[in-house]
Amino acid sequence: MTNQSKATVIQAPVISNHEAMPGVHLLWLEAPEIARVASPGQFVMACCGRENLLRRPMSIHRTDEDKTKLALMFTVVGKGTSWLSQRQPGEKLDLLGPLGKGFSVDPASFNLLLVAGGLGIAPLTFLAQTAAAGNRSIALLLGAKTGSQLCPGHLLPQGVRCFTATDDGTAGSKGIITDLLPKYLDWASQVFACGPSAMYRTIANQNRKLLRRKEIQVSLETRMACGLGLCYGCTVKTRQGLKQVCQDGPVFNIDDILWDEFVDI
Ligand code: FES
Repeated sequence: MTNQSKATVIQAPVISNHEAMPGVHLLWLEAPEIARVASPGQFVMACCGRENLLRRPMSIHRTDEDKTKLALMFTVVGKGTSWLSQRQPGEKLDLLGPLGKGFSVDPASFNLLLVAGGLGIAPLTFLAQTAAAGNRSIALLLGAKTGSQLCPGHLLPQGVRCFTATDDGTAGSKGIITDLLPKYLDWASQVFACGPSAMYRTIANQNRKLLRRKEIQVSLETRMACGLGLCYGCTVKTRQGLKQVCQDGPVFNIDDILWDEFVDI
């Protein structure tokens, strides 16, 4: 669903902010105006201090039951996210959202397969939280380079069967998460993935080779300046022509993206 018309700018008070796993922060905000209209896969543009002029896109990780609060989960990788990681309860964050077109769950789909590479778990948690309310069966394939980079169990969505893989074998199966995918494709009514573009390329190839042709939705990450369809900085090539990730996505059907022309950030 496109929800751009419901986007608003708010000053959201910080409720809590802590390191959830090494280098990854979980930030809860009081943001009822955004939380009550947001859908899984949508994102916000967060202001990251006066020195960082451009807002940063951040997927919505989850909301609370009352839909008054929302959480962002992010890796601390530069000045903007470092600034965000230091915000204290009571401080206010300038947020624009919710933005973009999120995941689309078919009402007739009861077996949902989620595939998360690294911090791809961030938006998929919101999807699982929402979809579980519809009595669906949900399986999560969760991958990371090493065990310490796997999202801890207490932060995973409730009522979801989780299967893990790590590159070095320190948790779950040894290997990449897409190694597990063929085993679950037949079971799945729909597949939703979030992770690095290398993971998407592998899934696209697997799906083609296995001739299962499942509908697979992926959440793209690109550079974004405005988040509003104004700057064209997030344009990607698709089978339907040029699309803007901030407005037409960030969720796309995996087969629509021209992966040979997709530029990694
Ligand atoms: Fe400006 Fe998408 S970020 S058009």
